[in-house]
Amino acid sequence: MQNKINVGLIGAGTVGGGTYKILKENFLEIFRKTGKEITIFALAEKDLKRAKEVVDAKTIIYEDAFDLVQDKNIHIVVELIGGTGISKDLVEEAIKNNKHIVTANKALIAMHGEELVSLANKHNVNLSYEAAVAGGIPIIKSTREGLAANKIEWIVGILNGTTNYILTEMKENNLTFDVALKQAQELGFAEADPTFDIEGVDAGHKITILASIAFGIPINFKATHIEGISNLEQKDIMYAEELGYKIKLLGITKCINDLVEQRVHPTLIPKSRLVANVDGAMNAVLVHGDKVGPTLYYGAGAGSEPTASSVVADIIDLARNIESNNTNSIPILGFIKNEIKAKKILSIEDITSEFYIRLSMKNESGVLAKITQVFSEHSISIDAMVQKEIQEDDEVVDIILVTSNMIEKEMNKIIDEIEALPENIDKAVKLRIEQLNS
Ligand code: HSE
Repeated sequence: MQNKINVGLIGAGTVGGGTYKILKENFLEIFRKTGKEITIFALAEKDLKRAKEVVDAKTIIYEDAFDLVQDKNIHIVVELIGGTGISKDLVEEAIKNNKHIVTANKALIAMHGEELVSLANKHNVNLSYEAAVAGGIPIIKSTREGLAANKIEWIVGILNGTTNYILTEMKENNLTFDVALKQAQELGFAEADPTFDIEGVDAGHKITILASIAFGIPINFKATHIEGISNLEQKDIMYAEELGYKIKLLGITKCINDLVEQRVHPTLIPKSRLVANVDGAMNAVLVHGDKVGPTLYYGAGAGSEPTASSVVADIIDLARNIESNNTNSIPILGFIKNEIKAKKILSIEDITSEFYIRLSMKNESGVLAKITQVFSEHSISIDAMVQKEIQEDDEVVDIILVTSNMIEKEMNKIIDEIEALPENIDKAVKLRIEQLNS
């Protein structure tokens, strides 16, 4: 009887420390759920001082993680160093040594998931990645297992705690972008390279993974359209508010008539939606299944113990099934191997959306008429239009428009024509709107 499960932990950072703590503090609770004694048998960490602060004297410490992945006593390797360089080599080596893998590494799964899943299947080991998407929210399990009866139609989520924290602090507490980012870093939410958060790459990794398990398509990060929040201006947050919207960095994936959308960008959503009121570093994911309708998941998307909660849940799943050699009864990406089929992923120009447009124009009579004329020549209706005088410069006005649903390339043509008007002062701001009402 396999009563003892030995875990090899790679990385004693924020999530590594949380994982060790949960397995220790909840040891008995976890034993009651598994009948197994699960412990961190070994830790690989280059910084020996840090390693000794995190684990007790009984835990073996390896300075070289390649020694850990070859240790015959270890059943499960937990990769928590992040990135796609050495972590990929370590995960591959661990799989080749027949270890089950648990990882919180969204970049690794989004960029190399296909090859790692194949390798894991070849060696009949599991590759678990619950913590890679939305931290402590069990969104992989919910989508892949809880909603398995459904054809998933779309998923929309606030998937990055750092940017949600920044947007909240900018709006509620008037903090500047830089100060809010610094705070998020101090709280341990931000990536080692915070441009991954700010520029939407981290949310892009996560929505790419969700698209794969939702629609049974290969993981294809390159096809994901990504825009971050670094160019977002405070005044657009305010104007959106006046129009009844909040701006959130959303990951969006849809499958309509076998055409897939995978995109991350700042998005206006009606203030009345639950997701619009998810603030701070919290995450929320809306999953729409054809039979269940909309379902909503909310929780901490980053941080030590919330993320480690998902890591440990994956370890528990494996521990429960190791003995019966049944660890791969659930396909790693939710669909059986031969049924994972590529679908066309739409380029951003081909998606349909409502738009918020801010134009910067000379404050002259007849300007509004010229703008509406361009829209009417393209047979596009304007749902709302507001003109704002700019305090520092009464020669310039901001004109904000909300359009009806239209194809983005049509929107781009309209913007080009308006920017060519002699009254146009600056580049137009274009943001997409999601009503989230179905
Ligand atoms: N940097 C990520 C975030 C951490 O801010 O959400 C969790 O993946």
